[in-house]
Amino acid sequence: MSQDTIESILQEKRLFQPPAEFSEKAQIKSLEEYKQLYDRAKADPQAFWGELAEKELHWFQKWDTVLDWQPPFAKWFVNGKINISYNCLDRHLTTWRKNKAALIWEGEPGDSRTLTYSQLHREVCQMANAIKKLGVQKGDRVGIYMPMIPEAAIAMLACARIGAIHSVVFGGFSAEALRDRLNDGQAKLVITADGGFRKDAIVGLKEQVDKALANGAAPSVTDVLVIQRTKQQIHMEAGRDRWWHDLQKEASADCPAEPMDSEDMLFILYTSGSTGKPKGVVHTTGGYNLYSHITTKWIFDLQDTDVYWCTADVGWITGHSYIVYGHLSNGATTLMYEGAPRNSNPGCFWDVIEKYGVNIFYTAPTAIRSFMKMGEHHPKARNLSSLRLLGTVGEPINPEAWMWYHRIIGNSKCPIVDTWWQTETGGIMITPLPGAIATKPGSATLPFPGIVADVVDQDGATVTNESGGYLVIKHPWPGMMRTLYGDPDRFRRTYWEYLRPKNGDYLYFAGDGAHKDKDGYFWVMGRVDDVISVAGHRLGTMEIESALVSHPAVAEAAVVGKPDEIKGEEIVAFVTLDSAYTSSPQLEKELKQHVVSEIGAIARPGEIRFTDALPKTRSGKIMRRLLRSLAAGQEVTGDTSTLEDRTVLDKLRGGA
Ligand code: WT7
Repeated sequence: MSQDTIESILQEKRLFQPPAEFSEKAQIKSLEEYKQLYDRAKADPQAFWGELAEKELHWFQKWDTVLDWQPPFAKWFVNGKINISYNCLDRHLTTWRKNKAALIWEGEPGDSRTLTYSQLHREVCQMANAIKKLGVQKGDRVGIYMPMIPEAAIAMLACARIGAIHSVVFGGFSAEALRDRLNDGQAKLVITADGGFRKDAIVGLKEQVDKALANGAAPSVTDVLVIQRTKQQIHMEAGRDRWWHDLQKEASADCPAEPMDSEDMLFILYTSGSTGKPKGVVHTTGGYNLYSHITTKWIFDLQDTDVYWCTADVGWITGHSYIVYGHLSNGATTLMYEGAPRNSNPGCFWDVIEKYGVNIFYTAPTAIRSFMKMGEHHPKARNLSSLRLLGTVGEPINPEAWMWYHRIIGNSKCPIVDTWWQTETGGIMITPLPGAIATKPGSATLPFPGIVADVVDQDGATVTNESGGYLVIKHPWPGMMRTLYGDPDRFRRTYWEYLRPKNGDYLYFAGDGAHKDKDGYFWVMGRVDDVISVAGHRLGTMEIESALVSHPAVAEAAVVGKPDEIKGEEIVAFVTLDSAYTSSPQLEKELKQHVVSEIGAIARPGEIRFTDALPKTRSGKIMRRLLRSLAAGQEVTGDTSTLEDRTVLDKLRGGA
């Protein structure tokens, strides 16, 4: 973000108090109540989390110690025994929720399905038994590569039920990206579907799985379980691939949930970082269950009759915590939609809200900006009066988009929760509690109780109010990542040793810059590392550069983000070619396609700029700051004295 934008954001004067009717019935009803919770959690975190864990969750066996903190490694609810699938399903069956809708699903072509808690429990047990029969045991890793259909959630819960560790890979990732993730986690089984419907086309998921596994490239995988969704012809490999509907017929619906150690691994989820290789973020059972549960309850202000809809994909952490685990653990009704706004139906989201009377709606700023562009006549043509709470996540929301969301979708009456968090944090960290905290457009407001957030300088010292710095967390919390799969050293270096205060404290830092205003409100400004955010998807520049240089024509590549009105950022790649190749529109197309097949469509560069040389420092570091300015069409300002060859810049300017 430019200094100008930052200054104009900090000038934001609009303040929206929680509506009185909302606060009256809310889980957390006032600023005083929030402050009491916050202060209590800060003064005695162990008592705070311990009491919540006891009150909100079912444990097969109680823990001995709430927190064992050997920085940067934490254990929560030590020796406690728990199962998140039990907390999401079984415990509701002995209550009035037994026949309540757990999952409402709407397919893109217009088909739909509702599963009550008892129906969902039955299917989860069946799938758990089916994968056990395929040889999956407690501790084994299972890849899940699915469209947005109920079986995606069923597969996650089935793994959790028997103690298998799931690794969900977003269905938009390519075969190559899938293969790397399966190999990193040494997955034994892949659960997938013949395909899924997306934007009036079929996404051939099974085809990608076949490619990922071809020629023994992912040797740990011995079995593939296939859900039938689209019914198009697919290849079924004998001895490896099995249809779910065949196994389901034989599968018993009796499968007791395995008592798991609180610190047993629940899932791995890969995310991008500054360096090339995606990071396998590890979450464990007890702490994650509690944190996703309590943040869901207080932030989305769950009431028994609510229908909640989050538009994320289960392939991202938002889908894990706030489509599946957090909501089911609370016994809520969660809605899942397979499709996306498309030319044939740009207003499909509003249709879904009207059809099911959705009360709580959670989406991303990039989606809101594209709704604005499509025009307010779409939402205005539908009845959205059921909505009572709105949320956003994924990137900073610009005040214009916030105001549009508030007026057009929320009819100026729904509070908006702008929720800051990350794959690594497991759950929401900085956010309004909608009945308690007044909002300012563009600010994620205040930390959740138990979260000690701060803005610090390079030495880890708190910066004075209103000047920017690094956003850090100063105390462990139950939902925090425990490590990077197979790489505890990288975990320590990346998140805990980037900033080291002189007193030796450990601060958690995962890459965002922020400001704090005079009211203590946080304004998250975006990534300060080499990570770009395209339509709310986090992509490492190195990851895309590695994909580019794996093409024979490319000698060197540097990738930067360029501001984009809808997507937040667009990918611009600066590329030098091997001497045997010359640039052409054809090659540009080919390189873009190459990135798509290496990573997936989300990483497709918007622009490729061919150049003779990249601007580097004398020590050989690519000066991305200069490239960012060039990509954005801005004057290159600041210090260029470390540039090794100044003519490079002139040439790039000329070519730009
Ligand atoms: C990065 C984490 C957490 C689920 C979605 C993304 C950015 C996320 C906000 C927000 C400003 C935000 C940050 C963060 N981000 N929410 N409300 N305001 N920025 O998860 O892929 O792990 O990405 O998304 O830059 O570090 P993720």
